[in-house]
Amino acid sequence: MAITIAILSQKGGTGKTTLTRSLADGLTRAGLNTLAIDSDPQGNLSEYFGVPAEAYPTLGEVLAGREKAVDAIHDGVIPANLGLAEAELMLAGKIGRELTLRSALREPKRHHDVILIDCPPTLGLLTVNALVASDRAILSTEAEHFSEQGAEQAMEVINLARENLNPDLELLGIMLNIADMRTRHARRTLELLREEFGDLVFDTVIRRSIVYPESARAGRPIYEFNRRKALDYARLTVEVLERLDLPGPLGRARKTLRELEPKS
Ligand SMILES: Nc1ncnc2c1ncn2[C@@H]1O[C@H](COP(=O)(O)OP(=O)(O)O)[C@@H](O)[C@H]1O
Ligand SMILES: [Mg+2]
Repeated sequence: MAITIAILSQKGGTGKTTLTRSLADGLTRAGLNTLAIDSDPQGNLSEYFGVPAEAYPTLGEVLAGREKAVDAIHDGVIPANLGLAEAELMLAGKIGRELTLRSALREPKRHHDVILIDCPPTLGLLTVNALVASDRAILSTEAEHFSEQGAEQAMEVINLARENLNPDLELLGIMLNIADMRTRHARRTLELLREEFGDLVFDTVIRRSIVYPESARAGRPIYEFNRRKALDYARLTVEVLERLDLPGPLGRARKTLRELEPKS
């Protein structure tokens, strides 16, 4: 059965989609059969996977109950488009609306090792569906003013999902993303996050670099697009596999990391 991980944040532009794409690639390279799910009507993750805009079926049809999730997999991702916003509205009026994605993923969970769900920028019904379908959550936080408060709000939603709908949900970690560690401000944000959330904060910080938007535009994962710049996400992949306690894939991810680390 796949370990399912929701990638979320309290708002847009915190690097969720880039994190989902890069981690999916890192885990695949570590030998895990990985499926990504685009749960944002903007469809950025689908584009990053190089899935054409007219791909069919998508997550919208799956949540509407018209298609099966296994039939909606295109090149390692269940894509999304604006139709997902419509599906979300329709879902709102249904009994068991929070459980729809969880039920839909029952079958793909049997055929994969890991499923990563890229959440939309709001903490609404699609995010709740992702949290209810997941075993773990990763919180992506950008280094900017009040990001600790944002992290707290997202934590509240995770806690609500756990208390009411999914008692097995655990926070895998909080990640500082798109960080310019040369600024005092980013360093201070990291300090505040560590004070507040302790070991839940990943040691890995994803630094700001133009290579990420470039790789997204090219529709190719960072390791493939510019291998030398893949260091931060190679580190994160190792840390995630340590936390998931998967020794085989962890060994392979460590090997990839050693190849990328600058020789001293
Ligand atoms: N580490 C990074 N450094 C610089 N830009 C980044 C980084 N990670 C993501 N980006 C860019 O920031 C924007 C928002 O990132 P994205 O992953 O789409 O966030 P979200 O899914 O939370 O909205 C995109 O243009 C993306 O390419
Ligand atoms: Mg996104």
